[in-house]
Amino acid sequence: MAGATGEITRISGPAVIARGLAGARMYDIVRVGKEKLIGEIIRLDGETAFVQVYEDTSGLYLGEPIESTGAPLALELGPGMLSSIYDGIQRPLDKIRDAQGDFISRGVVVTSLDRARKWTFVPKVKQGDRVGPGDILGEVQEYSYAHRVMVPPDASEDEVAEIRGGDVTVTDVVARLRGGRELRMMQTWPVRIPRPAKRKLEPTELFVTGQRILDVLFPVAMGGTAAVPGPFGSGKTVVQQTLSKWSNADIIVYVGCGERGNEMTDVLTEFPELEDPRNGRPLMERTILVANTSNMPVAAREASIYTGVTMAEYFRDMGYRVALMADSTSRWAEALREISSRLEEMPAEEGYPPYLASRLSAFYERAGRAVVLGKDERVGAVTVVGAVSPPGGDLSEPVTQSTLRIVGTFWSLDASLAYRRHFPAINWNRSYSLYEGLLNSWYGKNVAEDFTGQRAWVSAILSREAGLQEVVQLVGPDALQDQERLVIETGKMIREYFLQQSAFSEVDASCSLEKAYWMVRGIRAFNEAAAQALERGMVIDEIINLPQNEQIARFKEVPNDKFRPHIDEFLKSLPAAFGEKAKGAAPVGASGASGDGPRGAARQT
Ligand SMILES: Nc1ncnc2c1ncn2[C@@H]1O[C@H](COP(=O)(O)OP(=O)(O)OP(=O)(O)O)[C@@H](O)[C@H]1O
Ligand SMILES: [Mg+2]
Repeated sequence: MAGATGEITRISGPAVIARGLAGARMYDIVRVGKEKLIGEIIRLDGETAFVQVYEDTSGLYLGEPIESTGAPLALELGPGMLSSIYDGIQRPLDKIRDAQGDFISRGVVVTSLDRARKWTFVPKVKQGDRVGPGDILGEVQEYSYAHRVMVPPDASEDEVAEIRGGDVTVTDVVARLRGGRELRMMQTWPVRIPRPAKRKLEPTELFVTGQRILDVLFPVAMGGTAAVPGPFGSGKTVVQQTLSKWSNADIIVYVGCGERGNEMTDVLTEFPELEDPRNGRPLMERTILVANTSNMPVAAREASIYTGVTMAEYFRDMGYRVALMADSTSRWAEALREISSRLEEMPAEEGYPPYLASRLSAFYERAGRAVVLGKDERVGAVTVVGAVSPPGGDLSEPVTQSTLRIVGTFWSLDASLAYRRHFPAINWNRSYSLYEGLLNSWYGKNVAEDFTGQRAWVSAILSREAGLQEVVQLVGPDALQDQERLVIETGKMIREYFLQQSAFSEVDASCSLEKAYWMVRGIRAFNEAAAQALERGMVIDEIINLPQNEQIARFKEVPNDKFRPHIDEFLKSLPAAFGEKAKGAAPVGASGASGDGPRGAARQT
């Protein structure tokens, strides 16, 4: 109930307990103390409210008043979000900094969207049209994207009585419905409630990342979920920044939760420097950053992932493909743990509250590809990638384990690979994707009919190689037959020349699906020609010294659009290299059973 007032009976860091808030509801926003700090009711027990405060509580006294606003924590959604940097409850950091210096002072009320800025609103409906939830009233141009101004989900179907184009602010009325409802460009939505969509779709399209190990071996579906667990310095942030830059998402929402002060400063300074490969403009023009530094209150960090996913859903509702990066969810979980322990809740494993898993799934479940609200049946998607930083790299800890049970793809980063500078340091034995089967026909249609078969070959070589490496460790390399040594050589080729991909390479930072496919075909053709040559009596050392090895090592350096002619030349060179008689015996794999190449341009544009 709005205006319900109580009094503070306990203060413990970011947690406050208050009495007498009659009629207040769970998740209501409250104003705490004389300074009116922003807080949220996270548990109710009769008239006792447990509140997490989004601002520093030092100087707050017992007995000070606490007042409920009667409304939940909600975001302002509308033009002006792209390229913004917000804190966990959508307060614009730059605005606050401009006004107050580096530290956010308490009780400040700032609007999330700029009230003064004018946007040129172009109506897409006219007087007399019937509109309902999700229908597009008009558009404004925000950098290279059309920001679609939609009828909010809670409006009822009605006729447009008046629509107004031209230069307007986010709070100006742009449309009036017959029933009297006034619509503005800005709408609000509570962060803890998923925005509704018409219906969710099966995850049958690829979220294209441009990263070979991900796109080929451990794909995530458009609208799917992936977790990137990895110890300190193993490349979690680089993976997420690489996906922000190169994936085929339209809009990026990047939620940074830093522990060490500099971790977040990196994101705050590095991200705005990133260039969008699509147009050479700053990547920030299609990014929203939600940043929590270690000097910000933990409660804002707890809210930040819901803030991020709500923003992502809003752009999904326009019909865009959104990628949400959360770095790192472990820091989020620690915030949850701290607040819970301050409230003296019964802890479960490692001090985390028993609801850790359900909170995590409430977050990941908001991912999805969906037909969104609105008559035009547009499709949008939110793909979620969460980094996890298990202490000491121990994957059995509760945050990793709870995440693992929820997400569809698991990219396990490995300290020893990172130490050997094998990047991305994704362990191919421990990682997996549950989307593989659902995506097979997508690959068949968009890349090559035999894509699945080629992938299976890669996995088989990697696992045979791993087995043989164990033998080598036990009894030395001399125990192996030549055919076995060939498997080891091929495994090494796959690991070094295919799976390794530097995020900082000019040419190789992003690899098209077509190129990735033909790289596999090239390595496989070499392997099969070599296996036949061994049968004919060629020796393995001779094979290892063929110039084709060097050529395979250089596949990476060939640009995506030049790779097809390049690989054709390579495949043609194999028979002579292996001393085959020129009776036209093409090496196996040089022309696949389907005889086709990649179809369509599955690459992001
Ligand atoms: N794909 C990659 N290509 C090239 N270098 C990489 C790649 N991934 C990681 N690195 C190297 O590893 C370093 C650490 O990566 P990153 O900062 O992403 O690790 P992290 O797991 O986020 O660490 P932290 O636990 O500190 O957040 C990078 O600065 C970079 O030098
Ligand atoms: Mg990091």
